Amino acid sequence: MGHTCFWLKIGAIAVFCLLNIYLFVISCGISYQYAMAQEQIRFREQMPTMDSWVNSPFGKLKSYLFNVTNGAEFLSGRDSKIKLQQIGPIVYKITGYNNVLNRTESSVTYRKHRYRHIEFVPEESVSPDILNKTIVQFNSFLMGAAAKYSQIPFTSMGFNALTLGEQVFMPGSVYYFLWEFTRPALELFGKMMPLATNCGTLYNALKEKKEVYTVNIGNEPGMDNFFRIQNLNGELKIEERVKDNPRNLDESCPIYVANTLDNSLYPPFLTRNASLNILATESCRVLPLRYQRDQVHDGMNAYRFALLQANETAPTCMDTTYGVKLPRGMFDVSKCVINDAPSAFSMPHFYGSSYDWRQHFEGLDPNAEQHEPFVLLEPTMGIPINEKYRFQSNTPLPDFNNYSNKLAKLSNMIVPIFWYEFDMDHLPGYVLHMMRFNVNWLPRLQPYLMALQLLCALWCLLSLARRCSRSHSYGQLYRKLCGAPDVQLETILNPKPQHEPKLNTELALK
Ligand SMILES: *[C@@H]1O[C@H](CO)[C@@H](O)[C@H](O)[C@H]1NC(C)=O
Ligand SMILES: *[C@@H]1O[C@H](CO)[C@@H](O)[C@H](O)[C@H]1NC(C)=O
Ligand SMILES: *[C@@H]1O[C@H](CO)[C@@H](O)[C@H](O)[C@H]1NC(C)=O
Ligand SMILES: *[C@@H]1O[C@H](CO)[C@@H](O)[C@H](O)[C@H]1NC(C)=O
Ligand SMILES: *[C@@H]1O[C@H](CO)[C@@H](O)[C@H](O)[C@H]1NC(C)=O
Ligand SMILES: *[C@@H]1O[C@H](CO)[C@@H](O)[C@H](O)[C@H]1NC(C)=O
Repeated sequence: MGHTCFWLKIGAIAVFCLLNIYLFVISCGISYQYAMAQEQIRFREQMPTMDSWVNSPFGKLKSYLFNVTNGAEFLSGRDSKIKLQQIGPIVYKITGYNNVLNRTESSVTYRKHRYRHIEFVPEESVSPDILNKTIVQFNSFLMGAAAKYSQIPFTSMGFNALTLGEQVFMPGSVYYFLWEFTRPALELFGKMMPLATNCGTLYNALKEKKEVYTVNIGNEPGMDNFFRIQNLNGELKIEERVKDNPRNLDESCPIYVANTLDNSLYPPFLTRNASLNILATESCRVLPLRYQRDQVHDGMNAYRFALLQANETAPTCMDTTYGVKLPRGMFDVSKCVINDAPSAFSMPHFYGSSYDWRQHFEGLDPNAEQHEPFVLLEPTMGIPINEKYRFQSNTPLPDFNNYSNKLAKLSNMIVPIFWYEFDMDHLPGYVLHMMRFNVNWLPRLQPYLMALQLLCALWCLLSLARRCSRSHSYGQLYRKLCGAPDVQLETILNPKPQHEPKLNTELALK
């Protein structure tokens, strides 16, 4: 019995010893952070970050409309410019959902439901009853149709007759313009043609689109290719842009989805000059991210990447909207919105655009702080920790001089319709803790853990040696190993050992 116990102990200690030596040797060759990243890119369901990814994107959608406060004065010619009053934020809480359809060692396919839950947040909006407030808007149906058909000769007469009853500026509730904006003439057309008849801005912006992504995961594609897209809906190009003009699209047109990212996760160990392009599905294009600066958020260092650049020239395939050449800092999205209505995106308030809006409007205040879109990426793990995703939708108008007087006044304007900001919520606490541990603590902890492994291994070795040599103490082991000098030392230090007589008596008693 005692014997078995002895060998069991020896066995256990030997295993522990080997384990520590093994761990130590492995740790010499790899950083723990890198090992964690390798685990992360396998994208297993048990990962703590998984739950937060599945229920993403999550955050607040803040939309802003522009109330026209001098419509009558402008049309009568008393005012030469249109006065705009920004109305907002009108805040909705958004929770998305990523439904994993297929998973292999090297890829995962999922369908993104971006706007699965949408809920109005009255207390964070500009006023709780903002949806019931009355505002005055451009008649975007009238403007859009006029712009679209102005290129076709001799339509103006018929158009003027058809739209006689349409006003240029219309009053209505905020709710109406966001969610159920429609016009009798539009409904009439809708009965004859396949036209979407609800022009509500949010209704259309938040409509479900089919987004099925296949992305790289795992160690075979490699860390640098983690979560880079293989295809979208099984296609390599963004379909909306291809459908009416497949020949016009050369390589310079940013619609090729391969190796772009969906802005939910990024490869680990990002550098500031990393080549990162995201698929901006709301504008049907690929957007390059540009590093701007380092920024601290939620106690973590992050790289700030801008989505749009001030004064950037649009790619050739997106620089014109129905014959209107766009100024810098804007790009065409007509193929991406309902009824192919004329529209172009810019940064809010025309920030970073060469459009001279001051000749047509008053009341805008473009600035980087409120209007520049960006994402903050934690570089070690490649996780977005904050983002402000901002776009303004505009209707670029051509020369309207062949139309009615009221429309002619709007010639060559680029009319801001609304803008929105998707503001990512803070990451859940446990994800933040895990990230902080991985980013800040793990590299510092590694030397200590390795020292501990080494100590454990040494102690186990010694313990094994002692037990195998049947020594009762390490002193005895030492004496056994080194022999005489030790005894001498003990005699010198202890000329009259006190315990010896006691030991003798004990022995005598026995
Ligand atoms: C919008 O402008 C109109 C006209 O000036 C004004 O009567 C109305 O109160 C404004 N709406 C809001 C919500 O401020
Ligand atoms: C999952 O993807 C793999 C590789 O692309 C494919 O062979 C397999 O048929 C797919 N499974 C399903 C259920 O679609
Ligand atoms: C908005 O108006 C509707 C009816 O028009 C009313 O039922 C609702 O209570 C109003 N909401 C607010 C917040 O005033
Ligand atoms: C980024 O910069 C580093 C050095 O600063 C360089 O080694 C690397 O090649 C660059 N990468 C790219 C993609 O330009
Ligand atoms: C963009 O160009 C306009 C003139 O076209 C200029 O006034 C503005 O400062 C430029 N903005 C930036 C950020 O370079
Ligand atoms: C206006 O109509 C005339 C004659 O139909 C045409 O020659 C001209 O190009 C039109 N102008 C515009 C700006 O469409």
